[in-house]
Amino acid sequence: MFSGPFSESIIHRAQERNITSISLHNIRDYTTDRHHVCDDTPYGGGGGMTMKPEPIFRAVETVLTRPAGWSLAPADAYINLPAWESQTPVALPLDTPIILLSPQGRRLDQTMVAELSKHPRLALICGRYEGIDERVHSQLITDEISIGDYVLSGGELAAMVIVDAVTRLLPGALGYALGAHQDSHSPGLGGLLEGPQYTRPPMFRGEEPPAVLLSGHHAQVGQWRHEQALLRTLLRRPDLLHQYPLTQSDRAFLQKHGWEFSLQKSG
Ligand code: ADE
Repeated sequence: MFSGPFSESIIHRAQERNITSISLHNIRDYTTDRHHVCDDTPYGGGGGMTMKPEPIFRAVETVLTRPAGWSLAPADAYINLPAWESQTPVALPLDTPIILLSPQGRRLDQTMVAELSKHPRLALICGRYEGIDERVHSQLITDEISIGDYVLSGGELAAMVIVDAVTRLLPGALGYALGAHQDSHSPGLGGLLEGPQYTRPPMFRGEEPPAVLLSGHHAQVGQWRHEQALLRTLLRRPDLLHQYPLTQSDRAFLQKHGWEFSLQKSG
């Protein structure tokens, strides 16, 4: 599942340039039984299967007590791990958030992505099946993150979303100088949406870019972009305006475009 997204584009380049390293670990490799069983029927009955705690604990405790970048040699899978006592907790590095991807977690946004990008290492656990034994929640993970209010078949796609969003914030990951700072939702725009962009040709199917963009007037271009960001945010995500430090002239501009002061709170 991971090989496509991780071997293309920005994530691929970031790994090539040692800006990040990504190690994949198969929880099945950390089972100790002959059939490599990772799930079982839930206590108390009911349908579906629940992921067992031991393979997840063993995987996380093994990986996080080894140097970043370590991964199990194929010949070691299933059997050749050092002795591991399932009842004894293992001390894990405190600088590594252990994050479970689940629809029940905190909903991901750009502020969380920026915070995650500051950690030297992240451990992302992808849940599958219908659920995970509660002791993984109570004793192992430090955070639970959802990528939105919908249900995926497993945490893998959500983990890829986090890896992508975090990687593009790492210094040097994007080719251009300001990089992700000027993206929608990013600090450079104060959490506003980015306004429209144009490139060549100057005339396309009867539509031309606004003259100001071709004027070479940096201050005016900056002002236009700021107003367009306000306008687009007003039209598409007025809720975001509440978190933005609007100036007097921002307010006047927005009111001129239909933003009603009295509606501020409800968006
Ligand atoms: N696993 C299943 N659904 C998910 C979601 N919305 N976010 C993160 N992990 C998930």
